[in-house]
Amino acid sequence: MDFIIINGEIAKRSSARIDIEDRGYQFGDGVYEVVRVYNGKMYTADEHLQRLHQSAEKIGMKIDLSAASLKEMMGELIEKNTLQTGIVYIQFTRGTAPRNHNFPASNVPLTFVAYTKELARPAENMSRGVEAITEEDIRWLRCDIKSLNLLGNLLAKQKAAEAGCFEAILHRGETVTEGSHTNVAIVKNGIIYTHPATNLILNGITRQKALELCSFNGMQAEEEAFSLTDLAEADEVFMMGTTTEIMPIVKINGQPVADGLPGIVTLKLQKLLGDAIIKKCGVI
Ligand code: PDD
Repeated sequence: MDFIIINGEIAKRSSARIDIEDRGYQFGDGVYEVVRVYNGKMYTADEHLQRLHQSAEKIGMKIDLSAASLKEMMGELIEKNTLQTGIVYIQFTRGTAPRNHNFPASNVPLTFVAYTKELARPAENMSRGVEAITEEDIRWLRCDIKSLNLLGNLLAKQKAAEAGCFEAILHRGETVTEGSHTNVAIVKNGIIYTHPATNLILNGITRQKALELCSFNGMQAEEEAFSLTDLAEADEVFMMGTTTEIMPIVKINGQPVADGLPGIVTLKLQKLLGDAIIKKCGVI
């Protein structure tokens, strides 16, 4: 993975330089996306790049490059690094300027970087399920923006890791919002529930894809908030994300979810997503 993109050009990673006063570095003033790559092909890149533009717009940042040209550059980077299975990370910050909370002048160019990373599908966790903790959601009120400011997410994820768990399920008071780096859903009496796409969660691309697969395949899914009690009494719990796909959660705060095994609805949706990926990217 020797090559990266810096300000629109493919370059050697070792030669890339970011200024100490880059606003991403100083303030977390920027937005990013993580796109999955299977068999050297990007999955749902259009949706991710649309959300990247939306995130930028929401913080008053204008990305002049179209989704089509970004996708082309990312494709070139994947080829150059001969990436098969992994991710492309893409990030824009509000550029380099003397430190000042005000935005810099509009002629200051954004800083644009991208890199690739090899990352296998988490096959074992997908089939056996993982453990999670619950944690108060202390993040700001614009979680719909995929911004670089991830401290609230990181603190929760670290707490999960220290408890030997894969994910922290966040809640605002009684209401479950999402995971530290995934969207979360429960299944009760055959119906899937996940928090609606408001300012309190990131509207995950995997989440949107899962909802679409549910509606095409006669599975009932509701974009309806659920409580910590609902979570504790759920028949199944799972998370959704670019790197995790559909992953069962089988234990929460040390308590098994139902019988402690991945549920049938979860595994069905996981298979449907896997089939959709194979259809787009070939055998994985
Ligand atoms: N995380 N919620 C949060 C807070 C996330 O950070 C993510 C993605 C998701 C799932 O979104 P998607 O299905 O579009 O990946 C939900 C990425 C992968 C990350 O930060 O690494």
